Amino acid sequence: MVSVVEHYASHLAPVYVWMAGGIEAALAVGTQDVASLMPGRGVAVDLGAGFGMHSIPLARAGYAVTAIDQSPALLHTLAANSSGLPIRVVESDLLEFRSALPERAQLILCMGDTLTHLETFEQVERLCEDVQLSLAAGGQFIATFRDYTSPAAGEKRFIPVRSDADRILTCFLEETPQHMIVHDLLHERRGEAWHLAVSSYRKLRLAPSDLERALSQLGLKVRCESGPRGMVRVTADAPG
Ligand SMILES: C[S@@+](CC[C@H](N)C(=O)[O-])C[C@H]1O[C@@H](n2cnc3c(N)ncnc32)[C@H](O)[C@@H]1O
Repeated sequence: MVSVVEHYASHLAPVYVWMAGGIEAALAVGTQDVASLMPGRGVAVDLGAGFGMHSIPLARAGYAVTAIDQSPALLHTLAANSSGLPIRVVESDLLEFRSALPERAQLILCMGDTLTHLETFEQVERLCEDVQLSLAAGGQFIATFRDYTSPAAGEKRFIPVRSDADRILTCFLEETPQHMIVHDLLHERRGEAWHLAVSSYRKLRLAPSDLERALSQLGLKVRCESGPRGMVRVTADAPG
């Protein structure tokens, strides 16, 4: 098993846009995810922004976006696809996002199962505290993530992520008490043969109700609902 940083650097980042269906398709999906937030103004922060699936649509809709991620390769793709847009790219651990924030934010996003990349619930609590301190009056925090509290069992642990004639990405999930071990199996065609590369990392089994409680205790108005692509969406509003 490797760290999240190593997993992305050596395994996932090079195929991430392909995994998401290509840049145009992925941006169309990201635009749908944030459609209710458009048009917008003021500062938006995208925690774990990746290649900009949400940062780019938000910037197109009028937000000044700070996009934070610790994958240089994905941030490079983001920058290459967002020239002329008001996006500030910051290579950093998202837990340190406050030091990169120019002012209080109207919107803080943590989308696409990024929150579960944190190692412990204490880190999630610390992030919630920083979110509360960083939101402008009436501002909003939105997180979408997978609920691994009742994870798939048996054959359902094998998830076909994407495939085409030359590449197959399959995910295998292994349960431990606090985490899921995510094994990403990447088959790539090399001439007449297939090459297999495997890399594994941990995701936190974050209960939506625990996140709701942590945010509510900070005075935010929280709701939890079904989110896109089988995730849950937790929304927390700061007092106006
Ligand atoms: C599953 S991807 C989601 C990307 C994007 N938010 C989306 O919805 O497509 C998780 C992203 O979070 C980043 N990431 C994970 N842990 C991080 C951390 N502690 N600090 C900064 N970025 C992190 C990864 O590099 C990756 O780009």
